[in-house]
Amino acid sequence: MIKKIAILSGDGVGDEITTQSLKVLNAIGKKFHHDFLYQEGLIGAIAIDNSGKPLPDDTLSICIDSDAILFGAIGDPKYDQDPCSKIRPEKGLLNIRRVLNIFCNIRPIMTYDALLKRSPLNTERVKGIDFLVYRELIGGIYFGDKGIYEDKKAYDYCFYSIEEIQRIGHIAFKAAIARHKKLTLVDKANVLETSRLWRETIQTMAKDYSNVEVDFLFIDNAAMQILLHPKNFDVILTDNMFGDILSDEASVISGSIGLSPSASIGDKNALFEPIHGSYYQAARKNIANPLASILSVAMMLDYFKLEKEAQLVRKAVYNSINYRKSSFDISYFYPIGTEEVGDFIVQELS
Ligand code: IPM
Ligand code: MG
Repeated sequence: MIKKIAILSGDGVGDEITTQSLKVLNAIGKKFHHDFLYQEGLIGAIAIDNSGKPLPDDTLSICIDSDAILFGAIGDPKYDQDPCSKIRPEKGLLNIRRVLNIFCNIRPIMTYDALLKRSPLNTERVKGIDFLVYRELIGGIYFGDKGIYEDKKAYDYCFYSIEEIQRIGHIAFKAAIARHKKLTLVDKANVLETSRLWRETIQTMAKDYSNVEVDFLFIDNAAMQILLHPKNFDVILTDNMFGDILSDEASVISGSIGLSPSASIGDKNALFEPIHGSYYQAARKNIANPLASILSVAMMLDYFKLEKEAQLVRKAVYNSINYRKSSFDISYFYPIGTEEVGDFIVQELS
């Protein structure tokens, strides 16, 4: 199989973790005789420093021309401290999602037996957790009209159409069918008009998916239930903003946000990235956890329908966790470096 993959390492630890994922892809390519062709592009703060734009045109062309995008991380504290900055690194990622129509973000949340003690929740509560968050990615308050006027008034407009809800809705229902047949819509339908449209649309769609049990939670309640009864979830479906917050909250259950991968799927393109951010404090120290990025590669392999290859990568990641061949966030007493975790996975694969 030949696949063109755009490599956008981005900011902070992005480069170090993506380097490990490339080693993994190369090992898989070699073992199974696939040609993965890479093209690298700049994005985020590093691209602003280089060209003044968070998403330079040539980076966008590389992405459009690719079968999939492997994304590292984005963001730089120097912009976070300056709310007036007109230009922001995050805009690079938001623009790729929007321009390539990458509307469906999937974030698996699970626990590993070897790490149950590292979870902030107690062991019985988290053992065996396995659910998916489906987050709408290119609508809602993130992309609605926004502005500031009279210097002291600001607004962000939240918009959704039925079509936008249906296209991710179908994907989430199908995911539920392939799993435990339960879908939970998270919204704020007691307050927001857009949430009422989500609820009505999903209620109507549920009639065509009668073998799926559908329930509805308000976001504030869902934020509690994810900690109180995480095993009650199978597939969570939610809008852009709620999904952003809820998936970060859920990711800590596994014991480290450094373990959570994601896939973002569009009509023609898909982007794979760890859900953690640029983690600037750790940059160039060889301490960041590369497993979220490597698990994102497994999701990319699934997307290419290379399930056997994807499973092998996941198995190597389990071994890295089980044998404590992992970074300090999960292997506190005997940590190894980012680079060494990558080497261990490659060795497992071969
Ligand atoms: C994420 C990130 C992004 C988002 C940022 C970097 C724009 O937090 O992918 O969850 O808010 O979508
Ligand atoms: Mg986020």
